[in-house]
Amino acid sequence: MRVAVLISGRGSNLAALINHQHGYAIEHVISNNPYAAGLQLARDHGITNTYLNWSNRERAEHMLGELLQQLAVDLVVLAGFMRILSAELVHRFAGKIINIHPSLLPKYPGLNTHQKVLDHQDPWHGATVHLVDEHLDQGPSLAQTTIAVQAGDDANALADRLILQEHKLLTTVVGLIAQGDLIWTDDEVRYHGQTMTQPLMIE
Ligand code: GRF
Repeated sequence: MRVAVLISGRGSNLAALINHQHGYAIEHVISNNPYAAGLQLARDHGITNTYLNWSNRERAEHMLGELLQQLAVDLVVLAGFMRILSAELVHRFAGKIINIHPSLLPKYPGLNTHQKVLDHQDPWHGATVHLVDEHLDQGPSLAQTTIAVQAGDDANALADRLILQEHKLLTTVVGLIAQGDLIWTDDEVRYHGQTMTQPLMIE
């Protein structure tokens, strides 16, 4: 399975995907940030990569659409990509884009998820891999991982603990998709042939 990854920064999820690559290959890395550490990581691994200047969103999205069309990858992974894709682009690549989000969706779409967990005194935090639709962080969830919130945790401590689980979650999900064990249609998600009623839990 051929995969493109979109990033905006550090790229630790990208690093996990590069190191894993069982049944899939990272073909191309795209970033809206020319200084993203993840872009350098791609270069270091000899993975072709593209910086897209997002100061003109319409133009950037046009170029992204053309690039994805040309790459003809099987899956597009948003891994810390901090730009919202238009409904038009999402529809053009319908069913092919997944995102990793640091919360137990549907709780806390958007930013500052770690602080929101603390503000609500939640006992649990987690991350979700979901299909991307035209609504921010709202497409059908594929899989989740959880961590317990501990006394004394601040947002940074939560983020540091969660990111390790994120790496496992994302590499596992992309691996399952590559193997054909996790598939979906417009109406349902199936895991090993069974219709899923809740996201797969990855611990
Ligand atoms: C991760 O927490 C991911 O869930 C969120 O952005 C962060 C990206 O981290 N969407 P990294 O760039 O993969 O290290």
